[in-house]
Amino acid sequence: MPDPITISRYLDVDLTPQRSREIDSIFFESSNTKSFASEEARAAFRERWLGRYFRRDPAFAYLARKEDGAVVGYLVGALDDPAKSQRFADIGYFAALGLHTQRFPAHLHVNVASGFRNRGIGGRLIEGFAKDAKASGALGMHVVTSAGAANVGFYSRNGFTEVARAGENGDLVFLGRPL
Ligand SMILES: CC(C)(COP(=O)(O)OP(=O)(O)OC[C@H]1O[C@@H](n2cnc3c(N)ncnc32)[C@H](O)[C@@H]1OP(=O)(O)O)[C@@H](O)C(=O)NCCC(=O)NCCS
Repeated sequence: MPDPITISRYLDVDLTPQRSREIDSIFFESSNTKSFASEEARAAFRERWLGRYFRRDPAFAYLARKEDGAVVGYLVGALDDPAKSQRFADIGYFAALGLHTQRFPAHLHVNVASGFRNRGIGGRLIEGFAKDAKASGALGMHVVTSAGAANVGFYSRNGFTEVARAGENGDLVFLGRPL
């Protein structure tokens, strides 16, 4: 029997330094960017895709944990329209997506440790966020990922459909799911 995995709200978890290290390790393991020019660049990358969500939107962050408490997956998200919100102005592709972010304003980033994928954990994390985002009044949610990435299939099976192409060369895809 595989370890039972519990999905918890981030705010309900006693976040020890060890648990924080586990989240960081999943984040860097799952990222396509593997090398950084400096420690500052690495920290800025973590802040952009992870750190600021935990600080600013902790009520919409979720952790997947084993019975011993170890973190094996996480989801961070935000409800406000990122094309309008100044705090996401550093992510260039949002500027051209305002029409779509209006319909699907909430967004999320989800990652599961490699040894724990394909067990339904990512899907459960998405459902946790979807339920809370809907209860808080969000009309829809979206993700932006690389067109052709393996995770497009995962998002499709979790209710997202392609709404638009994004990025300078159309190499990104905006996937939306109504709530
Ligand atoms: C994308 C990602 C978050 C999905 O997490 P996951 O926990 O593997 O997701 P799930 O297990 O819910 O679904 C994955 C697959 O397992 C299958 N699955 C779900 N429950 C299952 C179960 N109990 N037993 C066997 N297979 C199962 C699903 O059918 C799904 O197949 P699909 O990918 O072809 O749709 C994870 O693979 C990951 O972190 N990938 C690397 C980083 C990444 O791409 N992150 C997203 C950035 S946009």
